[in-house]
Amino acid sequence: MHPVDSEKTITVLISGRGSNMQAIHRACVDDRIHAQVTRVVSDNPDAGGLEYAHQHGIATTVVEADDHPDRQSFDNALAAAIDEDSPTLVALAGFMRVLSAEFTDRYQGRLLNIHPSLLPRHKGLHTHERALSSGDRWHGCSVHFVSATLDGGPLIARSVVPVIAGDSADVLAERVLSKEHRLYPAVIAACLRGEIVCQGNAVLRHGVPLRYPLNY
Ligand code: GRF
Repeated sequence: MHPVDSEKTITVLISGRGSNMQAIHRACVDDRIHAQVTRVVSDNPDAGGLEYAHQHGIATTVVEADDHPDRQSFDNALAAAIDEDSPTLVALAGFMRVLSAEFTDRYQGRLLNIHPSLLPRHKGLHTHERALSSGDRWHGCSVHFVSATLDGGPLIARSVVPVIAGDSADVLAERVLSKEHRLYPAVIAACLRGEIVCQGNAVLRHGVPLRYPLNY
């Protein structure tokens, strides 16, 4: 794909099935996001999402941690893959690697992540299991700018789902995932319109600092 000069571009980083990447790509195709997904980068050569990218003519790069002696070298290779296209935005979508401060600083303000919980609750892994075992009545997903603190960067927006009696972690995950597929494209579109920007630890919407994350 060859975007015209003025066109905004997105690189998506995945490790697995890539359903959020697909939702972002579909939103670009439907013009809900005025940009193109120009590259999918994966740390896992078997990531299901790579197949989708191939089928849709999106360039792919695999950067495997095992091919690098340390995190610094891995992060440098990742940055080199991203910088191929100088993307307007970089979206982490189920990318299962912790990134160095040097990496997150390099893309500060244009690096986004989606996390399957109502941040700041349940950072890290196994969020659905933890929501259930904590007896949470509400759960959901969050999109934030990425900083060096894991799942701790400036929070932009969240989508809430109810926890329903008898939910298994898988059922709850599905309910959250369908919200993720709406939330992430909506936030990306708003960022690319310039409506939402990151300023230090703050998120500005129309130039005004957000006191609370947006609800989608
Ligand atoms: C999603 O739940 C996302 O929030 C989390 O990892 C999962 C990735 O799913 N970070 P997919 O690969 O986008 O289908």
